[in-house]
Amino acid sequence: MTTKSKPEELFSSLGERLTAPQITRLMKTALESPDLLSLAAGFTDTHTLPREEVLETVQELLAEPEGTECLQYGTNQGRPLLRWLLAARLAEQDGADTPPDSAPLFVTNGSQQALALALQTLCDPGDIVLVERPTYFVFLELARGLGIDLRSLPSDDAGTLDSNRLGDLLHNWKQEGCLDRLKAVYLVSYFSNPSSRSIPETEKEELGAVLAEHGASPALIEDAAYRELYFDAPYPARSILGIRALESFPRLYTGTCTKPFATGLKVGFAVCPDMTWRERMLYLKGQQDFGTANFNQAILENVLESGRYESYVDSMRQHYRKKKDTLSRIFRDEGLASMGWKWEEPKGGLYFWMQAPNNLDTGSESAFCRQALENGVLYVPGELCHADPATSRHHVRISFGVLRNDQLEEAGRRFVATARQFSKARKTDST
Ligand SMILES: Cc1ncc(COP(=O)(O)O)c(C=O)c1O
Repeated sequence: MTTKSKPEELFSSLGERLTAPQITRLMKTALESPDLLSLAAGFTDTHTLPREEVLETVQELLAEPEGTECLQYGTNQGRPLLRWLLAARLAEQDGADTPPDSAPLFVTNGSQQALALALQTLCDPGDIVLVERPTYFVFLELARGLGIDLRSLPSDDAGTLDSNRLGDLLHNWKQEGCLDRLKAVYLVSYFSNPSSRSIPETEKEELGAVLAEHGASPALIEDAAYRELYFDAPYPARSILGIRALESFPRLYTGTCTKPFATGLKVGFAVCPDMTWRERMLYLKGQQDFGTANFNQAILENVLESGRYESYVDSMRQHYRKKKDTLSRIFRDEGLASMGWKWEEPKGGLYFWMQAPNNLDTGSESAFCRQALENGVLYVPGELCHADPATSRHHVRISFGVLRNDQLEEAGRRFVATARQFSKARKTDST
C-alpha cells in the first residue's frame, strides 16, 4: 500500500516561503466583525464605481456582430490602440517633446502583475532590492516570497532620500563584494501608498547620481499607481522615463487604470524602454496568461478614446478629496494632533500616514491595535510597510477610499477615541 504524500513535501522553495498575505488577514478580520469599520483596505469606493460608463461602453462594444472580436483572446502585449492611448497619456503627463511611443508599453493584469514580472525576471533568492521607508506592503510580500533581501533606502523622517547615507551603504556593499546583488530600486513616487508622499524630480536625479557614483546600475522601478488620483493638481515631477539623467539605468514604469477607473477590470500597464528586459517580462507573461483579459482592455480602450475615462476620473478627484476632508475634519475637531499624533495632509491618493506620539506601539500585536479593534475600527499597522518592521512600530496607515462619508466620520471618531484612551493611560502612568 502506498502512503499518501503530503503536499508540503513537494513544495518548491518558493512554495515553502509563501505565507498568507497580510491583506487577506485584515480583510478576514473585517468580514468576521460586521460592525467593524475598516480604514485598512486600500479599495476605491464601491458606490461610485463607473457603472454607467461601463454599461454604455459594453453596449457599444457588443452592438455590432464584429463586436465579438473583444470576446476572443487578445495578444500578449495588449491591444494596440489601448497601448497607444496609454502611451499618449503618459507622454502628456511627462510633458514629453517627442511623439508617444507605444512599443515599450505592455498591458498587464493590474500593475501588480507588472511588479511581479519585474522581480521574477531580475532577482534570485538573496538578491537585494532597495525600497522606500515606508513602502507598499504587497510589494514587500511579493519580494519576500521570492527570497529577496529587502533593504530600506536611507531617508530622513519626512521620507526624503539621504544621499550621504546611501553613498555609505553602497560603499560598504562594494567593500563586502555584494554590490552586484543589488538588482533594483523600487519607488512609489506619486501620492504613495502608504505615505501619500510624492518624490521630486531632483530627488530621483540625486538617486541616479549616487548609484552611478558608486558603480551601481540596478533597475529603477517606478510605481505610479496613484499618479492620476490627485486632488487639486497633478504632482509636477516627470517620471523616471522623462528624466535624461536616468537613461543609463534599466527602467520600468508601472501604471494602472484600476485605482482611477475600475479596480474590478484589473487593467494596468508597464513601460520598459529596455528591449531585452521587456522581452523577458513578456516571455514570462506569455507563460502566465498570454495576454490580459481582452474584453476588459476593450472597455478601457473605448472609455479612454471617448473621453469617458477622463471625465470620470476628474469627478473622482473631487470625490476622494471630499472624503479626505471629512476624515481630516474629524481628526481636527476631535483633537488628534493635540494628543501628539503627526501627519501630512494628503494631496492625492487614498491614505493618511500617521505617526503616533511617544513611541506608542501600533503594531499588529500591540495593545493599541487590540483596543482599536475592540472600539470597532481597523487600520493597517505601519510596521507592515517597512522592510525592517521591528524598528518601525509607531505608524498607522488609514485609508479613506472605501467607507461612505457617515461611516468615515464614525470610523475617524473611533480611531481618535482609541488614541485618547492611550493618551490618558500615558498621562496616568507618568503622574
Ligand atoms: C502602490 C501600489 N502599487 C500597485 C498596486 C497594484 O494595483 P493594481 O494591480 O490594481 O494596478 C497597488 C494596489 O493597491 C498599490 O497600492
